[in-house]
Amino acid sequence: MANLATDRWSRRDLLGLEGLTADEILAVLDTADEYFPFATGVEPAPQTLQGRTVLNLILEDSTRTRTSFTLAAERLGGRVIQFHADTSSMAHKRETLLDTARNLEAMGLDAIVIRHAERGTPHRVAEAVACPVVSAGDDAHEHPTQALSDLLALRHHVGRLDGLTVAISGDVRHSRVARSNLYGLTALGSRVVFVGPDLFLQGLDDITVEAETATDFDAVLPECDAIMMLRVQFERHEGVDLDLADYRRRYQLTAERLARAKADAPVLHPGPVNRGTELADEVTDGPRSLILHQVTCGVAVRMAALALCIAAAERA
Ligand code: CP
Repeated sequence: MANLATDRWSRRDLLGLEGLTADEILAVLDTADEYFPFATGVEPAPQTLQGRTVLNLILEDSTRTRTSFTLAAERLGGRVIQFHADTSSMAHKRETLLDTARNLEAMGLDAIVIRHAERGTPHRVAEAVACPVVSAGDDAHEHPTQALSDLLALRHHVGRLDGLTVAISGDVRHSRVARSNLYGLTALGSRVVFVGPDLFLQGLDDITVEAETATDFDAVLPECDAIMMLRVQFERHEGVDLDLADYRRRYQLTAERLARAKADAPVLHPGPVNRGTELADEVTDGPRSLILHQVTCGVAVRMAALALCIAAAERA
């Protein structure tokens, strides 16, 4: 058995962390903790999603998110349909995404998980269908279940999520993870400092809460209770003139740089890691890295997100 925090969660969809209350975020994290012992599949999980069908509409590259949503649903007894756009009627027959979602829902779906390169697509799909929609990331907008995975890993390590100072360092401009973590940590009463070169601190006008920024990583580190590093998103860098050698010199988290932070401040990264770019390997693979723990937390968080949204839809 797992105790779902259904009394604190009434949303059909999980599309972002913007606007969620602390209580709602904690409802997902507390439910994820109930599922955490079953996240790796060693212990048989409660069959919360028995007889349920989840559609994975993952329309951008993904390793962690696609696999963890799949494992989350299947370990809870659900069935997962993997949609492949390149061999679908969207590819050459001009069927729209919204028509695709409506047609697939007509076959009987209990939830849709969607990742899309265009901002706001999960919201548009949610308006088009009646079943719950869980965002797996849209453009540089939000990646709510990744941020919840990061928060769960951080809570496991630090023991709380309020009153912390967290540096989120790197390619903030192109990062949906940075935005979702900002919304989550701020709602929970922690302070976030976005760190990076000016180039990566531009284009943040879409953010609806106050975002502190800093260009001097070394000066911020001593204040940090945790350091979240971001991937340099080279695939989104058309027209971005990054001096990579200078970036590594000023922002790569090396063991020497990490020594400036508080002694037990953990290092997080949502993955995938650009080896040797944002993190030195000694930190990626070092004792203060929570990176693989974040991945395990991702299964538990996705179990919680699917279970809570499906339960809320059923009660509505
Ligand atoms: N962190 C994350 O979203 O990883 P994937 O792109 O591999 O899913």
